[in-house]
Amino acid sequence: MEKTSVYIETFGCQMNTADTERAESKFRASGYDVVNDSTTADVVLFNTCSVRARAEQKLYTRIGEIRRLRAGNEPLMGVMGCVAQLEGAAIFDHAPAIRLVAGTRATDRLHKLIERIKNGERRALDLGERQEGEVWDVSPVERHSRYVGFVPIIEGCNKFCTYCIVPFSRGRERSRDADEIISEVHRLKSEGFQEIQLIGQNVNSYRPKSDIGIAEFKGATPFSRLLRAVASTGMPRIKFTTSFPRDFHADIVAAIDEYENLCNWVHLPVQSGNDRVLRAMRRGYKVSDYLSRIASIKNARQKISLTTDIIIGFPSEESKEFEDTMRLVEQCQFDGIYIFKYSERKATPASRLVDGVTEGEKTARFLALEKLQMEIQKKKYSEYIGREVKVLVEGESAKSAIDLTGHTTCHKVVNFRGTAELLGKIVKLKISEAKVHSLYGELVA
Ligand code: SAH
Ligand code: SF4
Ligand code: F3S
Repeated sequence: MEKTSVYIETFGCQMNTADTERAESKFRASGYDVVNDSTTADVVLFNTCSVRARAEQKLYTRIGEIRRLRAGNEPLMGVMGCVAQLEGAAIFDHAPAIRLVAGTRATDRLHKLIERIKNGERRALDLGERQEGEVWDVSPVERHSRYVGFVPIIEGCNKFCTYCIVPFSRGRERSRDADEIISEVHRLKSEGFQEIQLIGQNVNSYRPKSDIGIAEFKGATPFSRLLRAVASTGMPRIKFTTSFPRDFHADIVAAIDEYENLCNWVHLPVQSGNDRVLRAMRRGYKVSDYLSRIASIKNARQKISLTTDIIIGFPSEESKEFEDTMRLVEQCQFDGIYIFKYSERKATPASRLVDGVTEGEKTARFLALEKLQMEIQKKKYSEYIGREVKVLVEGESAKSAIDLTGHTTCHKVVNFRGTAELLGKIVKLKISEAKVHSLYGELVA
């Protein structure tokens, strides 16, 4: 009998990418074919994001597109990920073409839902928790990259920032056991991976049930002990994202200083540069707390690059409060920032506030902040000209087929001329040109 083929389309953050890798591995282990083509697959699943309204709308656009494209030969369509967890059975009403809805902790049971439909059920829904003893086996062929592996260390979020849907779509924080994480890193190393990224909504809130695997490493927080344990595996490069400011302690910086393979990049979302807005967002820190975190990062022995996320137009954000954010960005001199216009999410506490900032004002603030950051980045990036950097060659550059692309240890994109046999290697490049979002370099013999 021919195998059923499954195609998963992924939106949203790295957690979704990692979930897709797990779901695909499970499908293959359960006798399915995993394919990369939505035009022929028997099953099409959308792994969805709900963080902003626009991310959610994408799901419905894609359902429509697949239905038109596959008219007369419609695949079995299903929704997984954050929209699935939040909307549940309501998706069946919004989009009758959808027959399967699986929440964020059902990645291991998708094949069972498909079996139910094959056995005659019209629709299948699973919003349950992960099961005891679930294995996080991801086969190397299912990884999104052959060189960079994502390793989830903590799922969910307990912070409940007032604007954010994630604590509802991902549930409470659950840390993976350290020994399990460390064996996954060993496995990735033996499979030839050059870099891993420890991922989670707040990696530095890591708090496992037991400290097996990290007990002998020094450091006040379990996260810094985990970093040291992971670094001791000898994996060439280790990055981690996202860090939460309130839980960002100096022992993390000390670990980065001590271990060559812990990369010198920290992503620390600030969201706003104004104390009243931070309080209304319920972020749990003040601007001065954030600045003291930044100072400890900037005082590290080695230069650590710093990136952040900012929300503009939070309900009731006044223009002078936005000016505080501008000042903070000026002061911190970030290597990169992601700016988001506030997007109201159903049932979050902020959705009960009056969204008093007009769309026009949001756009004006967005552009002003972007302009300021572009100036900062222009300066930052041009400081690299003439310097030598080490780059993991991850792929061919989007712009030109003979250019290769990769990241520095400080997570900057570098493009250079080279041949495909360099893929997966760490090369030394001398930077010859700087743009606002990327560098250009030449191979150093
Ligand atoms: N856990 C991380 C990231 C969460 S989602 C953190 O706390 O920083 C990634 C980013 O999306 C957030 O940092 C925030 O800037 C943005 N975001 C989350 N909810 C949003 C909303 N309702 N509107 C606009 N941006 C939002
Ligand atoms: Fe959302 Fe805040 Fe949790 Fe980040 S820390 S995922 S912004 S609730
Ligand atoms: Fe989106 Fe869910 Fe990630 S809402 S950002 S896919 S945790």
